[in-house]
Amino acid sequence: MTAKIMQTELLQADDAGIARAATLLNAGGLVSFPTETVYGLGANARDDVAVARIYEAKGRPSFNPLIVHVPTLEAARALAVFDDQAERLAGAFWPGPLTLVLPLKEDAGLSPLVSAGLATVALRVPEHPLAQNLLTRAGVPVAAPSANPSGRISPTQADHVMAGLSGRIEAVLDGGTCGVGVESTIVGFAPHPVLLRAGGLPVEAITACLGAPLSVHAQGDGVTAPGQLASHYAPTAAMRLNADRARPGERLLGFGAVEADLNLSPSGDLVEAAANLFRHLHTLDAGGDAPIAVSPVPDHGLGRAINDRLRRAAAPRV
Ligand code: TXA
Ligand code: MG
Repeated sequence: MTAKIMQTELLQADDAGIARAATLLNAGGLVSFPTETVYGLGANARDDVAVARIYEAKGRPSFNPLIVHVPTLEAARALAVFDDQAERLAGAFWPGPLTLVLPLKEDAGLSPLVSAGLATVALRVPEHPLAQNLLTRAGVPVAAPSANPSGRISPTQADHVMAGLSGRIEAVLDGGTCGVGVESTIVGFAPHPVLLRAGGLPVEAITACLGAPLSVHAQGDGVTAPGQLASHYAPTAAMRLNADRARPGERLLGFGAVEADLNLSPSGDLVEAAANLFRHLHTLDAGGDAPIAVSPVPDHGLGRAINDRLRRAAAPRV
């Protein structure tokens, strides 16, 4: 499967451009927008298929959890649980180049694909006036990784985004050059504050604010390496992959034209399958511990990310 070829609109940083970007986001489109760190590749974080398309457009071989962007701390509080230390950091550094990984609220209404099935969500309130304006106008939380093809350099200008993703996304909102130029600093709480990724906000500023040193979890991108994420999502039930049919006592998670308890995509559409993956795994998990057989999923396009995740979910538990 190849990503749909489309005409990518280059939108100007004026009222009409921002309005168009907000409309496209609400219609399930992918819109790249400037933040003070790097350009993000945005999608409505409540829309499973839109979020799945982010991975498809970037050609990501795995589902890493994405950062959700909102315009205010108040909007962030509707999505996640803030403890005292999280409140303190948000109060000091938002809007700005800081991302907080926090417990997801049950009624947050985000696509499970955004947090790759985890019980936490990464939240950020960007400072860039265009990002602020767009998020307010769109009125939905926006999932956005950096707007580059997987494995390539993060974009700090609209033409970088165009060079990498033109034809694969609906639009780029042109806000000139990003001031910070590196991704946001990511802090998690486990439950004590831990640095998950060094970035645009100096660690010294964070420790000064907290009045205590930060423990360091991992260098680089935190959880991007396979297996690095200790708590990656897996159902309790045993899973058997590449199953043509369910054996007696098994439940079938289907793909394509098969009789199944739940089907990732009856028509064999990989974008739809990615959009349904974590929701279906959660549903099966809630439905008991009878073993789960999974239909073969073709290993191209988004199928690679789906298979990566299924293999990890099926791996022996530690
Ligand atoms: O500056 C930035 O942060 C840019 C702009 C666009 O805002 N965004 C960005 O997103 O860098 P992305 O998707 O490239 O980085 C997301 C990283 C993941 O690789 C992971 O390390 C961390 O955020 N992350 C997201 N959700 C997480 C979670 N629930 N638990 C742990 N880490 C998480
Ligand atoms: Mg990135």
